[in-house]
Amino acid sequence: MVLVVRAPGRVNLIGDHTDYQDGFCLPLAIDREVVIRATPRADGRVVARSDALAGVVDMPADGLEDARHVEPGWGRPMAAVLRMLAQPGRISIGFDAEVTSTVPVGSGLSSSAAFAVAVAITASEIGGLATSPQSVVRIAQAAELAATGVPCGVMDQMASVFGRAGHALLLDCRSLDIDAIPLPPAASVAVIHSGVARRLEDSAYAQRRAACEAAAARIGVATLRDATLEEAGDDPFARHVVSENARVLDFVTALRAGDLERGGELMGSSHISLRDDFRVSTPELDALVDALVYEGAYGARLTGAGFGGCVVALVATDRVDDVVARAAARYGSATGLTPTPLVVRAVDGAGRVE
Ligand code: GLA
Repeated sequence: MVLVVRAPGRVNLIGDHTDYQDGFCLPLAIDREVVIRATPRADGRVVARSDALAGVVDMPADGLEDARHVEPGWGRPMAAVLRMLAQPGRISIGFDAEVTSTVPVGSGLSSSAAFAVAVAITASEIGGLATSPQSVVRIAQAAELAATGVPCGVMDQMASVFGRAGHALLLDCRSLDIDAIPLPPAASVAVIHSGVARRLEDSAYAQRRAACEAAAARIGVATLRDATLEEAGDDPFARHVVSENARVLDFVTALRAGDLERGGELMGSSHISLRDDFRVSTPELDALVDALVYEGAYGARLTGAGFGGCVVALVATDRVDDVVARAAARYGSATGLTPTPLVVRAVDGAGRVE
């Protein structure tokens, strides 16, 4: 028996650094994915190889391996997922896994969330565990923290698990409600990698999250989801989160009305807020956003955690190839860097293939 499981990466259209404050975001699962081909093994071990990353991961399937000590390092999320699935009385069945991926690593398109989601589904299927999609999300999110120490929110895993073809997902990160928003055929989603890998991401991410928690405590609310702009006052972190939540809802209204100009404007304000208030942009991301807007995108912004990686743009479908090519060339000659453009499609969330 060969089990094939796929889990997509994601790009976030608007609503960054809001998920861990119970806020709103609007990601889509994209047609770049992690695929695991697994066959059961009788000896209770999980043995994994990757087409792109070196080394063989070899550990017990029973979850006893400590994720932080697994070598090669790409196996750490796998160990963390196995530990969370392991519960007394469960039979642990091992498997061989061949991992392939078309999600670029270190680019802000959630390659690691996709990997953890794919492992959780694979191990559950092989072990005959009935793991609900919601549990897959929770396990993959906790695995990210256990394996990398990054206290991420729930957006990436929700997008990978619940993605829907042709739609972005309006996520309420408090209730975990999902509203699938159709993407108008007249607009395309373009992603361009800046050619600079993310830097300082882990420690700076945790610092930003702590700054939000401190602001919420000062205001006297559980999370910034409950704060108003007046209460945020001159705290730039709180101001970003509160204003970004409002922009996500306005963007959805614009998308539903087919008002792509307004959507683009909101993406622009989101980028400025992430740059000036939340301070997670870089000169390269700013230059790439400018180049896209100059060449005629409705709007563009950094996407994901920031500090490098990709920007996302909304572009008229009949001009998308041209706009993206010109913006990439403009950015390349301004910075001397090599950008990588991708036009992405919204796809269904993770699951068994066949
Ligand atoms: C990373 C995290 C997400 C989210 C974004 C910023 O992708 O994994 O949970 O916080 O950054 O929006």
